[in-house]
Order: sequence, then structure tokens, then C-alpha cells
Amino acid sequence: MDGPTPNTPSFRFWPDSAESTLNPEDLFMRIILTGAAGFLGSHLAARFLADGHEVVGVDNLITGTGENVARLQESERFTFREHDVSTPLFMAGHVDGVLHFASAASPVDYLEFPIQTLKVGSLGTHNMLGLAKAKEARFLLASTSEVYGDPDIHPQDEEYWGNVNPVGPRGVYDEAKRFAEAMTMAYHRVHGIPVRIARIFNTYGTRMRPGDGRVVSNFLIQALRGEPLSLYGDGGQTRSFCYVDDLVEGLVRLFESTYSGPVNLGNPDEFTVRDLAEIVLEMTGSESEIEFRPLPEDDPKIRRPEIRLARELLGWEPKIGLRDGLEQVIPYFREQVEGKDARARPLA
Ligand SMILES: NC(=O)c1ccc[n+]([C@@H]2O[C@H](COP(=O)([O-])OP(=O)(O)OC[C@H]3O[C@@H](n4cnc5c(N)ncnc54)[C@H](O)[C@@H]3O)[C@@H](O)[C@H]2O)c1
Repeated sequence: MDGPTPNTPSFRFWPDSAESTLNPEDLFMRIILTGAAGFLGSHLAARFLADGHEVVGVDNLITGTGENVARLQESERFTFREHDVSTPLFMAGHVDGVLHFASAASPVDYLEFPIQTLKVGSLGTHNMLGLAKAKEARFLLASTSEVYGDPDIHPQDEEYWGNVNPVGPRGVYDEAKRFAEAMTMAYHRVHGIPVRIARIFNTYGTRMRPGDGRVVSNFLIQALRGEPLSLYGDGGQTRSFCYVDDLVEGLVRLFESTYSGPVNLGNPDEFTVRDLAEIVLEMTGSESEIEFRPLPEDDPKIRRPEIRLARELLGWEPKIGLRDGLEQVIPYFREQVEGKDARARPLA
């Protein structure tokens, strides 16, 4: 049989990269963070700033918001470059780390911007690796559980190669990220760049755009507006939901580690999408109905991260369960609905 045996993670393919760990004498780093105006990028930037580092946020605002940038600009250690990273980026001065988060990330966004999504995953990743190489900086790629596609093993560990339809509508995102991972490893092997690859599973939290079309934001907005919750298929498909603070902690630990292969970061508690709808209705006190819609093409039926590697390598695991995370995020979405007339954006 070709390839590794499913469900038997081992470290043999990805030995620790002993080279070029961050200089321990440099207490504070200068970080280039693409996608800084987005949901995860803005949280991660805030964390680096809080830790005393300097952050240059780069974003073309295709799905990010000026509001996220403005919040970060309250720190004098944050600067912003409005730029499409699918074109080359030149940066003066030294750089310690390049973290590449730029990419449409929710299905409604990448289906609206399929070519830009392919470009930022391919050309954008190449450009950012080039920058890391020129600056002798460490590179971290925000990859995704979508590299596993509609998986035929469960849970998904890092040695599973995935089941992706390259020509389906979701292929624009999944294949862009798979290419991005391949390019990242090629730069590591050929140019010796220290790289980290975070395979991020479904994450939610404050600063998500209410209309970004992801399941947690859609359900919360619909419940709070008293509109029907859009449930695809019979809602029996499973997902796992990681609260953003947990994810950011995992990302920082991964960035600081010496491991150059892909690492799953996500919450292994698994829920059906129908469970999520019911929890949201209960916690928001909403009387919304559930509206069943056809399952989108290539929608994964099951999704749960195997996080043994992250536990062993990084001493990391999520601490915030779904109900606790929702409790933290509901006031934010309530504010969006009440103050800004925010609307959900389910798939058409
Ligand atoms: N949120 C999740 O659950 C999740 C899960 C898996 C992977 N990820 C990955 O994490 C990263 C961030 O996701 P997010 O949820 O914050 O999405 P987001 O849409 O909120 O943020 C993405 C940011 O990238 C920017 N961007 C897109 N194309 C760009 C380009 N060509 N040049 C410059 N900026 C560009 C957007 O304007 C936006 O600010 C993405 O790479 C995504 O694939 C996120």
C-alpha cells in the first residue's frame, strides 16, 4: 500500500529542524503577518503586540476589515501595509518571522473569489516564502483541515493525505492550501528555511465578520435575528469548533517550536451541525426554526482533528469547550445584530 498507515502518527517523516531557532537574545521580534485585517490575523497580531513584539500587518482587505486594522493601530508597534500578497512584497529592515494568513477562508468567500483564493495560496505563499528567504526569517503557513477534504479516515491525523476533489467548487481553497504546503516544504528542503505548518480546524470567536458565512456566525446571527437557521443536509455532518484564544495559543507555541511538518490545531470535541444549531438556539433563547437546505457539493461529512502531535510537541490542547466559547462570543454577535443590522450569509 502506498503512503503511511492511517491513524498511526509518527515523527519519522518530520524530524525536528534544529536549524535557525529564534535567537533567544532577541526578546522582541519583528513579525510580518499577512491577513492581519481578518479574523484570525487580527487576534494573532494582538497577541504578538501584547507579548511586546513589532507587527507589520499586510492585507488587501478583500475579506478583512478596516475596523480590525484600526484596533491594532492603537499600538505604536503595529504598522499596516495595504497590499495584495499575490504580487511581490518588498520590505525594508530585518524580519524575524513571516506568518502567512492571507486567504479567503469561508466557503461563501472563496466561492465568490475563486481565482483570488487560488492566487493567494499559490503566488501569495511563494512571495511570502521569498520574503522569508531574503530576510532569513522563520515562516509559518496558516493551512487548514480542508487539505483532508471529505476524509475517509476519522479522526484526521497529520499523516493522512486527504480526499479532495480538485475540480469541485471547494477545490479552489483546498488545492490552494495543498499547493501552499507543498511549496512551503520545498522551500524548507531546498533553501533550508525554518517553516511551520498549522493545519487549522474550524475556529470561531469575536471579530468574525457577521456575514462571513461560516456555520457558527450564520447560526448566531440567524438565531439573534429570529430568522430560520440554515442547516445543510440532515445536519448529521460533524464538525469540531475551536475557540479563538485556544487557537492563538497553539499558533504561538507552534511558531516558537522547532518542528517543520504539519501540525493539526483544533478542538477534538465533535458535534453534529444539528447539535450546534440546537445549542445556539438554547443559549441565545431564540425561537427560530431550523430550515433544511440541500447539502453543498463536496461538503465534508465528518471532521475532527487528531491533536496527539500538538499535545506531544507543543504541550497544547484547547481549554475552552463549545458552550463556554459561545458564552463569550454571543454578546459580540448580539452587538453586531443590534448596532449594525448584521446579516448572516448562508450559501445560496
Ligand atoms: N477561521 C478558521 O476557522 C480557519 C480554519 C482553517 C484555516 N484558516 C486559515 O487562516 C487564515 C485566516 O483565516 P480567517 O478566518 O481569519 O479569514 P478572514 O477572511 O477573516 O481573513 C483573511 C484575511 O486575508 C486577507 N487577504 C486575502 N487575500 C489577500 C491577498 N491576496 N493579499 C493580502 N491580504 C489578503 C483578507 O482581506 C482578510 O483580512 C486563512 O489563511 C485561512 O485559510 C482559518
